[in-house]
Amino acid sequence: MKNVVNSIKERLRDAAVKTYGSELEGISPIVDAASNPAFGDFQSNLALTLSKQLKQPPRAIAEQIVSKFDVDGICDAPTVAGPGFINIRLKKEYLESQLNAIKKDERLGVAVPAKLKTVIVDMSSPNIAKEMHVGHLRSTIIGESIARTYKFLGHKVLKINHVGDWGTQFGMLICELREQFPKALTESQALDLGDLVTFYKQAKKHFDEDEDFKARARQEVVALQSGNAETIKAWQLLCDQSRKSFEEIYDMLDIRDLVERGESFYNDKLADTVKALEGKGLVVEDQGAKCIFLDGYLNEEGKPQPLIVQKTDGGFNYAATDLAAISHRINVDHADEIIYVVDAGQSLHFEMMIKAARKAGWVPEDVRVAHVPFGVVLGEDGKKLKTRSGETIRLKDLLSEAVQHAREDLDARLADKNKSEADDWKDEVSSLVGVSAVKYADLSLNRMTNYVFSFKKMLSLQGNTAPYMMYAYVRVRGISREGGIDLDQLDDNARVLLSEPSELELAKQLLKLDDVLEGVIEEFLPSRICEYLFELSQKFNQFYEACPVLSAAEPVRTSRLILCDMTARTIKLGLSLLGIPVLDRM
Ligand code: ARG
Repeated sequence: MKNVVNSIKERLRDAAVKTYGSELEGISPIVDAASNPAFGDFQSNLALTLSKQLKQPPRAIAEQIVSKFDVDGICDAPTVAGPGFINIRLKKEYLESQLNAIKKDERLGVAVPAKLKTVIVDMSSPNIAKEMHVGHLRSTIIGESIARTYKFLGHKVLKINHVGDWGTQFGMLICELREQFPKALTESQALDLGDLVTFYKQAKKHFDEDEDFKARARQEVVALQSGNAETIKAWQLLCDQSRKSFEEIYDMLDIRDLVERGESFYNDKLADTVKALEGKGLVVEDQGAKCIFLDGYLNEEGKPQPLIVQKTDGGFNYAATDLAAISHRINVDHADEIIYVVDAGQSLHFEMMIKAARKAGWVPEDVRVAHVPFGVVLGEDGKKLKTRSGETIRLKDLLSEAVQHAREDLDARLADKNKSEADDWKDEVSSLVGVSAVKYADLSLNRMTNYVFSFKKMLSLQGNTAPYMMYAYVRVRGISREGGIDLDQLDDNARVLLSEPSELELAKQLLKLDDVLEGVIEEFLPSRICEYLFELSQKFNQFYEACPVLSAAEPVRTSRLILCDMTARTIKLGLSLLGIPVLDRM
């Protein structure tokens, strides 16, 4: 109802100008959804904010504004409440006309934005030769949902996988393998990711404990960085190996078009990047390292906190790579927005890196660059999610377990109903429900919340969960299907007509979709979609309880069927933005 809110704002301003003169031309009234439906649909505190400037009690101002307010078609005459709030209730005819205008619209009334942007979502970004962990899972799921929302709105989206595929750790790993398992460096498939992780741990141990090994590992880093063909090939094999197991996860999660552009991609741009920063006078040498200092950043001892771009040994690091990346994204990709979906533990890095890039003048004023942080996933013991033996949980196992639980639930439900189904169907349903449950559990909370990972809770058919929402779809869709409503065949007389209070509530909720999606990309909060869908399904239930659909007489029957159909399509669309499919039965 974006247009409604804007038009209410305009009308409030016009009424204020009519009453108090053109000096109020520049005000922008705040209009919020009413906290209590008894007061109406929207509320404005405009009179309270003008009281000081106009030297009048807010209530008197509110009464003046209300008397001059142009209701024309949208709402009933506003009322004044409490100290001077202005309450506005939408007219039923207005809601009807809005729904009728969008009832056949595939976008369900969500307008295409005036300016279409190129948006980069930096997401997932696991590290080669390491297991992908739950932090990467969150980044993948949240990033995907943000990307899908932008894309649905009409923007051009580039999803970048900034994998950790470069750096001294590869010298270490290659050295270890050369000495312990050389086959891995020449033959593909010689190792799986699990083995690689084990070798990686061993290599780290050798590196820390054995000076000679350290020296040999450094040689390998030099060989790698100077592009030695044999070393590069070995490195590529290791990357391929990891990539294969990442791909399995992306397949399970239905993540497509993720463009891998890892740290190595920027390798030949790092020296120039640091040089350019030096050219801007931003780089200071501190104990042999090249650093950028920014106002207001102090370390624990109260000393200036550096953003290191080149280490004492001359090596470039994570920050240099991100600075090269941001410049590439702006100059080559022409990004209008760059969004980093990375755990909250890296907030300082991103804050400083983005500020440094802005200070260097690399980021045009109107380009939005944002770190989108998120909290950690906890086990049922309230500690960081780990396996029983304290290892990082393998995501593949985690997702498979969710699917297995979903299967058990499905079998139990079928047994309850004395029903049997084909195995193929059961496999498909439980795999979609299991993975969706993991996604929804993650997305339904404010991303900054640390949440407890519980299969039982996320798979429950009650509460704000994927199975609940997927089931709500099946049910609502079932009603509209049974009613035989076909939007393409609807004749012009078939219209939404609202009379019952629960119908009006459902109608308003349906019309909120565009506001909700705008909020999602404004604050990078896919949880808004989940809240919205959950509320929609509740409003639908209230409607369905109070209003007979199939047994109603025309034209009410058709009107209600249209409401059912729009509800089903809204749920389907909302879930698709969360990366969750719908089923016809489950
Ligand atoms: N590979 C990093 C990690 O696992 C995340 C990279 C995030 N993206 C970025 N542009 N720095 O922590």
